[in-house]
Amino acid sequence: MQIELELNGRQRTFDAAKSDVLLDVLRRNGYTGPKRGCDTGACGFCTVRIDGDPRMSCVTPVAKVDGASVETIEGLGDQNDLHPIQAAFVDNSALQCGFCIPGMIMRSKALLEENPDPTETEVREALSDNLCRCTGYKKIVEAVLDAADRMNGDAPMAADGGAGAVDCEAPPWSQGGGDTE
Ligand code: FES
Ligand code: FES
Repeated sequence: MQIELELNGRQRTFDAAKSDVLLDVLRRNGYTGPKRGCDTGACGFCTVRIDGDPRMSCVTPVAKVDGASVETIEGLGDQNDLHPIQAAFVDNSALQCGFCIPGMIMRSKALLEENPDPTETEVREALSDNLCRCTGYKKIVEAVLDAADRMNGDAPMAADGGAGAVDCEAPPWSQGGGDTE
């Protein structure tokens, strides 16, 4: 069958099998930003936006999104022109292996469009379905708060190269762990 998507602002048609999930079709066609982690809707690595809402593409039957608008990390900035959220992640050293980051950024973008000035608690709640196997949660939250400042004009937009040291943090916020200080 064929699936029509508005993908990152462009009208596209893709071949798909009935059994395909959206993540299959995206990755098969070169959109490898969304990552395959658990494949069960439990980790958030595959998060994309469907009609504006953050969704786990590994458990989204592609037939159900025929005609939808889909946004992936590829629709944001690139290395030479980072989106402010991407720049904030770089500058706050909010990525270690990077595997969770596309999903984190797509979820963060949805949050900041809905709530441009979130509290730390609101950021943690919004990202609670997105896991980071490197457990760098504190810096990820700081990056989202920094991105909000940038997008609100309260901080410079551009990345400065992310000079900060990479570190490891304690347990996920979803468990109320010790990375909140
Ligand atoms: S790969 Fe989709 S939620 Fe884990
Ligand atoms: S940075 Fe490695 S999984 Fe999050």
